Amino acid sequence: LNNGLARTPQMGWNSWNFFACNINEIVIKETADALVSSGLADLGYIHVNIDDCWSNLLRDSKGQLVPHPETFPSGIKFLADYIHSKGLKLGIYSDAGVFTCQVRPGSLFHEKDDADIFASWGVDYLKYDNCFNLGIKPIERYPPMRDALNATGRSIFYSLCEWGVDDPALWAKEVGNSWRTTDDINDTWASMTTIADLNNKWAAYAGPGGWNDPDMLEVGNGGMTYEEYRGHFSIWALMKAPLLIGCDVRKMTAETFEILSNKEVIAVNQDPLGVQGRKIQGNGENDCQQVWSGPLTGDRMVIALWNRCSEPATITASWNAIGLESTISLSVRDLWQHKDVTDNASVSFEAQVDPHDCHMYVLTPQTVSHSAV
Ligand code: GLA
Repeated sequence: LNNGLARTPQMGWNSWNFFACNINEIVIKETADALVSSGLADLGYIHVNIDDCWSNLLRDSKGQLVPHPETFPSGIKFLADYIHSKGLKLGIYSDAGVFTCQVRPGSLFHEKDDADIFASWGVDYLKYDNCFNLGIKPIERYPPMRDALNATGRSIFYSLCEWGVDDPALWAKEVGNSWRTTDDINDTWASMTTIADLNNKWAAYAGPGGWNDPDMLEVGNGGMTYEEYRGHFSIWALMKAPLLIGCDVRKMTAETFEILSNKEVIAVNQDPLGVQGRKIQGNGENDCQQVWSGPLTGDRMVIALWNRCSEPATITASWNAIGLESTISLSVRDLWQHKDVTDNASVSFEAQVDPHDCHMYVLTPQTVSHSAV
């Protein structure tokens, strides 16, 4: 969507994957505090997004949305002010249907009122879901909220959560800043890998202003191993997915923090070229030694060697397969080891990768001619 936002994929946190409906204003404030004190905010995680269950079960007598009086007694404006005072942005959630997925009031046919009230509260981001949609086509339900948000005059990031049902990659570029391409993720290896493959299909449609959204991160929620989470984060970054943390950042382990704070992987995600990397080798469980790659600024490439097999594997990325001339000489930097592995790889690069682990590298062309030693 051409509203000046989402020049790179959004980064931040969302309440749903860890808290589901167990949210309140204290959790949101403490999360904002933790994003700042941990240093994650400085790395770019600036959106603090409240998901479903923030609102009261009914609109008020004037037909307006109201925050739940017990869990959000101070109101959303209060939270937005607090979050802005920390240099962060506040996101909220509604639905392009008559109810949200947890049966709170939806915004269908209330687009103008709801956009106005979100803007008056100082909301910076709207996630807009797809439940209870009366069978009306998404292309008729999502643009009215875009227009209503635009008419408020406030800059509001518009995140479509249409679950990929009507192939949003094909039409949502004019409608939203990102669009979910799949059903909900859950905190398992099977779900995460399935979703990565589904999102990969739409790579050609992502770019500055509008991104494919394979759903929020599960890193730190406990259902996958350290290696599996490292792969999850690597592939989401390479696919230019939104990096929305989905764990309780107030209680992160050192391992979780290490993954989420990897500056070199974040830089791949936020690279201004904005081209979604893709799977270029390996398909499904029978072909589980996978290579994913994509272009970066400065004629660089990112590659991920992702071992989805249950045995260790030596995985080779050939320059041919990733679209480079085989004669070119490249330096290779390992983004998880944080070190340069070699400064003149040609033809291909290979590494031994543990089961369910993922290595990630940036390849830089050797343009400087070396003087004779
Ligand atoms: C849907 C969305 C999720 C979450 C829940 C909230 O399932 O896809 O991301 O927002 O609704 O109810």
